[in-house]
Amino acid sequence: MAFPATRMRRLRRTKALRELVRETSLSPAELIQPAFVVAGEGVREDVESMPGIERFSISELVAEATDVAAAGVGALLLFGVPSAKDESASGAYDDEGVVQMAVRALKGAHPDLTVITDVCLCEYTSHGHCGFVRDGEVDNDLTVELLAKTAISHAEAGADAVAPSDMMDGRVGTIRHQLDEEGHAGVPIISYSSKYASAFYGPFRDAAESTPGFGDRRSYQLDPANADEAVREAKLDLEEGADMLMVKPATPYLDVVRRVKDATRAPLAAYHVSGEYSMLKAAAANGWIDERAAVLETLTSIRRAGADAIVTYYAKEAAAWLR
Ligand code: PBG
Repeated sequence: MAFPATRMRRLRRTKALRELVRETSLSPAELIQPAFVVAGEGVREDVESMPGIERFSISELVAEATDVAAAGVGALLLFGVPSAKDESASGAYDDEGVVQMAVRALKGAHPDLTVITDVCLCEYTSHGHCGFVRDGEVDNDLTVELLAKTAISHAEAGADAVAPSDMMDGRVGTIRHQLDEEGHAGVPIISYSSKYASAFYGPFRDAAESTPGFGDRRSYQLDPANADEAVREAKLDLEEGADMLMVKPATPYLDVVRRVKDATRAPLAAYHVSGEYSMLKAAAANGWIDERAAVLETLTSIRRAGADAIVTYYAKEAAAWLR
């Protein structure tokens, strides 16, 4: 029955009616706050291209985690910015590395706060690529071995989950196998299964000092024009033992979020990346948008597309707005 029997506006008339028929929820527990940890003591450095985001040394990060936990944010996702880098990314799998030490400190101070670690080599390699470079190319299988070592060292430090973000083939299976062998069968893998070679990572690479010294990441990250391939990547990672999948970036790839969810029905995260964050911050700083409304609309749209969890630099702020 069309108009006038049907009037779609009836259920929009009051806030209570609108809330009764709201299809998508957004709550702090679904948000994951990324954090950058640096070597040294007493360090809190602003990331210039990401207003409101700082790089913390370990005790500052532990203090920050108090606020993140109090806001009800679901988890922290840790990135390390080591003081020294080399060709084999040895800082990535060093038991005394910056992430390993930070995980121990965080879990000691906040045992109930979920700590996820990013597993990648790009912050630790002198050339900034996500893997071991041989003859000018990122060597897949050598890289996978180093990634598995990294994941094990994170699990050993007490990480609640490991999140490989490198896009090498076969890394989920190898990480799963080696975690199990080393007594970490209970540590889940949150795989960045469908990660694009995106221009929206620019501010992150400033923050993590991980801009590739030569070339780009197109030989391992997905072509932005492809979606079938993103679904295949997601299914392969599930077969290899991923517990949760991820699409990254989020807003330019909402169709991919939906397709991966529909194709797998697996737990899914989407990463609202640094460039997406900085664009909102820049527009808000100029008074061009209502920041709070625009951010909550953006995060709701990512959930509506099918993401269960959202990694976002706005996690702490948004959680406070949602209270
Ligand atoms: C590391 C990694 C990157 C991001 C998360 N993990 C950068 C990259 O691939 O260059 C980007 C996150 C962001 O932009 O917020 N592999």
